[in-house]
Amino acid sequence: MGNKLSAVPDVELTVVPKHVAIIMDGNGRWAKKRFLKRVAGHKAGVDTVKMVIETSAQLGVEVVTFFAFSSENWNRPRDEVSTLMDLFVTSLEKEVAQLHEKNIRLRFIGDRSRFSEKLQKRINEAEKLTCDNQGMQIVIAANYGGKWDITDAVRKIAQQIRKGSLEPEDISEELIQNTISLGDLPEPDFFIRTSGEHRISNFMIWQLAYTELYFTDIFWPDFDRVEYVKALKSFADRERRFGKTGEQVAKLNNA
Ligand code: IPE
Ligand code: IPE
Ligand code: MG
Repeated sequence: MGNKLSAVPDVELTVVPKHVAIIMDGNGRWAKKRFLKRVAGHKAGVDTVKMVIETSAQLGVEVVTFFAFSSENWNRPRDEVSTLMDLFVTSLEKEVAQLHEKNIRLRFIGDRSRFSEKLQKRINEAEKLTCDNQGMQIVIAANYGGKWDITDAVRKIAQQIRKGSLEPEDISEELIQNTISLGDLPEPDFFIRTSGEHRISNFMIWQLAYTELYFTDIFWPDFDRVEYVKALKSFADRERRFGKTGEQVAKLNNA
């Protein structure tokens, strides 16, 4: 990862997002362009993940969520799915100790029950080892789908109603927010998708309600520090209005 970092001198940003959510896309096309197998693209993509973690820590981003495997990705050819699963296991085995040393907390969202026992064990160990770390948080969305996430929250709320600890009238946006994945973290304020696809692909559909969106044509393995900083600069230049007028926001900023 060293060469991906050293290319750019120190960066100064006026505003840094608290929570960056990323759809890492284009691994397969990156490989195809090089006459390699798709899985070579997934392997190359791991270095980009490391670069984003390192750069985010340097710049003061508090949370980065990576979409690693969607609930729909099970529909891919069986050997690609199984290589991806192996890659998750080996990456966790190789990287978790270093992340822990850097005081980084690792979390997973998604339905992990469909993963092999070995992978579930690695995931649980990684979460347990790093759960008290106070530095940056890394979230891996694996076997995750935004619709699954909402459905899961609805199920949890319904269980509370059945138990009698909650009334239907108590259901509020705040309650759903607190029940859904990552409700305890700052909402993603910046979203990045690589590879030129302009869609959300069932990522965090609730959590992304007011997120600033950024799309680039670059394939994930080619997304280097220069490109990441370019994306963060684009975020810094945006005016977040949350329904207000530009004049109101300017007044608030000058107050
Ligand atoms: C993203 O790259 C990685 C995963 C979905 C696991 P893709 O594998 O989707 O790459 P393309 O879109 O086929 O190029
Ligand atoms: C989304 O990418 C899921 C991940 C990056 C893990 P896909 O490449 O699977 O998305 P679609 O199906 O092309 O929208
Ligand atoms: Mg894709």
